[in-house]
Amino acid sequence: MVKLLQITDPHIGASEDYRLAGVDTRRSFGIVLEQASLEQPDMLLLTGDNAGDCSEAAYVHFFQQVNQLGLPYYWLPGNHDRIDTCEASEGATPFERSFVVGSCNIIMLDSVIPRSPNGRLGEAELQALEQSLAENTSANVLVCLHHHPVNINCAWLDQQMVADADEFFAVLERYPAVRAVIWGHIHQEFNSEHKGIKLHSCPSTCIQFKPNSDDFALDLAHPGYRVLELEDDGSFNTYIRRVEIPDLGVDHSCLGYE
Ligand SMILES: [Fe+2]
Repeated sequence: MVKLLQITDPHIGASEDYRLAGVDTRRSFGIVLEQASLEQPDMLLLTGDNAGDCSEAAYVHFFQQVNQLGLPYYWLPGNHDRIDTCEASEGATPFERSFVVGSCNIIMLDSVIPRSPNGRLGEAELQALEQSLAENTSANVLVCLHHHPVNINCAWLDQQMVADADEFFAVLERYPAVRAVIWGHIHQEFNSEHKGIKLHSCPSTCIQFKPNSDDFALDLAHPGYRVLELEDDGSFNTYIRRVEIPDLGVDHSCLGYE
């Protein structure tokens, strides 16, 4: 069995004073990472919005916090990130698109449209996905991206869904080894299925968005991460672990975020 942890949307700021809707995102990320590392995972999957302001200082801090765990990890970009700044930062590891753990090939995708909160894979990314799946020799495949490829019943977030999700699923459907798709961005837990492929999102390590809300709204749920326990036969167990953070400081009067 391989134990993977999905950790997402830390929104680290350029300085210690940075707050997202009242939350000290450096502190909450650190506490979630500390809890997560106690699970003794084989690997961490960081699914975007590594920085809240795509500053180099934010990425330096992000990699410092992750590197000090001494665990294998991979990351992909979110709409608040810039891949080039992220990769050029001190302590950075590169954005890697495909790697194998146990019997599973993990594919990381870039769903970011520059300077937009919306998601789209585009021709090049879909081709890279197809190529990776065609060359895959692992029995099982897990696909990771930042944006949601299905509607989640939050109108304000559903505008930002992967625009070419139909094309995305058309590729996945051709490869029966694909077991699951996981993503970040929506700052809440969501679980579904598409033609036998399991679909899962993950809470953020900082603020949470309210499920089933048409307009922007913050939720009272605690930060958290997702556990994925993969078996060699392709079956897996997955669940969310919440991390209670004292004095998290969420400003519930906040009406939106950039
Ligand atoms: Fe985010």
